[in-house]
Amino acid sequence: MNDLSPSRIEGELVARGIGLGRPLTIVAETESTNDDAKRAARLGIATGAAFIADSQSRGRGRRGHVWHSPKGDNVYVSFVLRPDLLARDTPPLALAAGLAVVDSIAHLVPGDRLRIKWPNDVLLDGKKLAGVLVEAQIRGDRADAVIVGIGLNVHGRGFPPELSSVATSLAMAGAHDLDRGAIFVALCQALERRVNEQVTRGVSHTVEALASLDYLAGKTISLEGERCVALGIDAEGRLRARGEDGLERAVSAGQVTIGTR
Ligand code: BTN
Repeated sequence: MNDLSPSRIEGELVARGIGLGRPLTIVAETESTNDDAKRAARLGIATGAAFIADSQSRGRGRRGHVWHSPKGDNVYVSFVLRPDLLARDTPPLALAAGLAVVDSIAHLVPGDRLRIKWPNDVLLDGKKLAGVLVEAQIRGDRADAVIVGIGLNVHGRGFPPELSSVATSLAMAGAHDLDRGAIFVALCQALERRVNEQVTRGVSHTVEALASLDYLAGKTISLEGERCVALGIDAEGRLRARGEDGLERAVSAGQVTIGTR
């Protein structure tokens, strides 16, 4: 099924007065939509532009991970945003994006099954459903453009062996009547709102909005190899954790796993 019809999606965005997602580029295959968006941003494309691919041959996640990007199954999209932000305030846009993903799909999987795992994962029933990759282009100390890439597993019914115990899709979780175009439109609407709120009211506003969705809070975690208890997210979007030395720390980036490995 091709549920990524550009004319239908653009018609919906216009009808609902959603600025994000326009101009829209949809291709059958690309290496990485984040790279497409970056190139366009360097050439000056306007804020709101979105790049969707039906498949990616070199989809990327954080920390050099590959993003599984088979044809026809999922949403792979990258947005070009030009928020008036200091460079250092751009990474927490991943939290706004995660919240927007939850906003856009919550009606498809009712029952409090969605969580946000700091800094960039959306989990469904404890498995990874979506990931966010934020990459900024900086001029001086300010963001010239921020690329917000989102991979959201929709129709897929299987994963490679190394992902099968940790990843899921909306279809695998029992959601029905899935339509990537409709999900994309809802995502544009939600992301526009969540990013505007974060830029105008601060990261703390996003953090408050996602507090009840925080997957890590209260859990024993391994933070860059150190055993800690996660304490929540602070007003700047950093993960708060208490180590075995009893001291509290706040980190703005890092590899987090559940448990003590
Ligand atoms: C992560 O969980 O590490 C982030 C994954 C982000 C994947 C998306 S898919 C669309 C966009 N293009 C990419 O190459 N990556 C992002």
